[in-house]
Amino acid sequence: MAGNERLICAAGALLDGGGALRFEVEYRGATAPAFVIRFDGAVFGYLNRCGHRPMELDWREGEVFDSGGRSLICSTHGATYAPENGRCLGGPCSGTPLVRLRVVERGGGIYYLGLKHDG
Ligand code: FES
Repeated sequence: MAGNERLICAAGALLDGGGALRFEVEYRGATAPAFVIRFDGAVFGYLNRCGHRPMELDWREGEVFDSGGRSLICSTHGATYAPENGRCLGGPCSGTPLVRLRVVERGGGIYYLGLKHDG
């Protein structure tokens, strides 16, 4: 295991298109809320901060998917994002994506590896 890996949860805790699991990360020198989801079998992590305003997406804890389970949606004004890359799909995010995190599923656990810098 690499030095900065941190266990977020057991792999079985995330259902495909289901609830997100919240955790915290260090971002720009401060503690920031984040979440991890499972989508089409893979895990993805994002800062829990809308591209429209710096609000958390989930009004009810962990509820970040829309009713169809194919998009992420901000509960404040309805911006939608692609679960697999955080791209703004519509609404007031106006092209601003979610901040991506590096997460990996390994050995029955889901680990946080750090911020994602490849866009
Ligand atoms: S704060 Fe998320 S859509 Fe406005």
